[in-house]
Amino acid sequence: MNILILGSGGREHTIAWKIAQSSKCEKLFVAPGNSGTATIATNISISVTDFNAIKETVLSNDISMVVVGPEDPLVQGVHDFFLTDDALKNVAVIGPQKAAAELEGSKEFAKEFLFRHNIPTAAYQSFNASNVNDGYAFLETLKPPYVLKADGLAAGKGVVILDDIEEAKAELKAMLVDAKFGNASTKVVIEEFLDGIELSCFVLTDGKNYKILPTAKDYKRIGEGDTGLNTGGMGAISPVPFADETFMEKIKNRVVIPTINGLQKDNLPYKGFVFIGLIKVGEDPFVIEYNVRLGDPETEVVLPRLKNDLVDVFNAVANQTLDAIEIEIDDRAATTVMLVSGGYPEAYEKGKIISGIENIKDSIVFHAGAQEKDGDIVTSGGRVMAITSYGETYKEAIKKSYQNIEKLHFDKMNYRKDIGFDL
Ligand code: AMP
Ligand code: GLY
Repeated sequence: MNILILGSGGREHTIAWKIAQSSKCEKLFVAPGNSGTATIATNISISVTDFNAIKETVLSNDISMVVVGPEDPLVQGVHDFFLTDDALKNVAVIGPQKAAAELEGSKEFAKEFLFRHNIPTAAYQSFNASNVNDGYAFLETLKPPYVLKADGLAAGKGVVILDDIEEAKAELKAMLVDAKFGNASTKVVIEEFLDGIELSCFVLTDGKNYKILPTAKDYKRIGEGDTGLNTGGMGAISPVPFADETFMEKIKNRVVIPTINGLQKDNLPYKGFVFIGLIKVGEDPFVIEYNVRLGDPETEVVLPRLKNDLVDVFNAVANQTLDAIEIEIDDRAATTVMLVSGGYPEAYEKGKIISGIENIKDSIVFHAGAQEKDGDIVTSGGRVMAITSYGETYKEAIKKSYQNIEKLHFDKMNYRKDIGFDL
């Protein structure tokens, strides 16, 4: 079968790398893709939210499966677009329908879902511009730090955590009254701060059955020791060493099963990945957020540990036969380190030539913000490439990634040298 992947990051290069290993995939396309996907698939230069261009691509290339990488097309209803079009309705789409994608598209929707299904999460209230004074009063009832979340998609920047009550009130006003995040902050969720260590659990569901995939931990801050600005993610490790069997049982029983059952009870059609952001408080898991897709760079450590043929797994998702699939996980640890452009996550330059990729033998180079230009691979984004390695332990794997990074170069290249420091 011919398959199209939507997206252009390290996540999409990893999905393409995994799908390209399947004998079931004849032609593989990535839209828009990057210099990494170009080596194993055909890149198509269209936007992931241009549904008509996607339709045209699918029909002209006889594509029968579309795997959606990022959240935007899902929240905008790409799966529903396919189902309601006679020419596209038989194409398998991996990713939830619009109603279910609201789990990521709206923090308030996600919190209501969590409470409705008794899934452990922080206490919260939500506010809009008309009751901003109630928001100030609610903040007064909480202990610092104060967690404020713009309701809608804000490119990963919509969560603000502040220690000072006056700053928290000013932030609430900036979001609600001054539209700091545009439409995304028309509503704001204020929630109780949870103190613990974070991890992510990945689940694949066909809407009826589910499979738990490896856990991962990502490193979001730009600076070593988890300091400085938030990024899309600077590195990741799988499995998460503290997510032992007892803790995973709790995640399964208290979070995963109620989530899958909740989707069915609420009639939220879901064929795709559920990325559950968790925090371990004491010995208990609490949900911080849902994402309706795989994470980046978590994918770069989760999929390399999956032994199954990914096309078989996706076909089972499409046909609602995931119960017949036995998920096989590589026992080895996987780690990834993200190389970023100097200055990222603030302003940075693009177009820097990346050298040394051909010298890397025992790590996998997943391209992210990188494009081919006149025979060179050049930087085209903040997060440039992820260097993934396997090891008997995560320490061994991370060492390999760092050794190989020494062989890579581009002007103002930056990366965190302490991935896994807190484990
Ligand atoms: P989110 O965009 O929802 O993943 O939130 C971004 C980050 O904010 C998370 O990865 C956590 O580090 C932090 N965070 C979100 N909600 C809470 C909370 N209730 N308590 C503590 N930290 C939180
Ligand atoms: N690494 C976090 C995310 O993909 O949302």
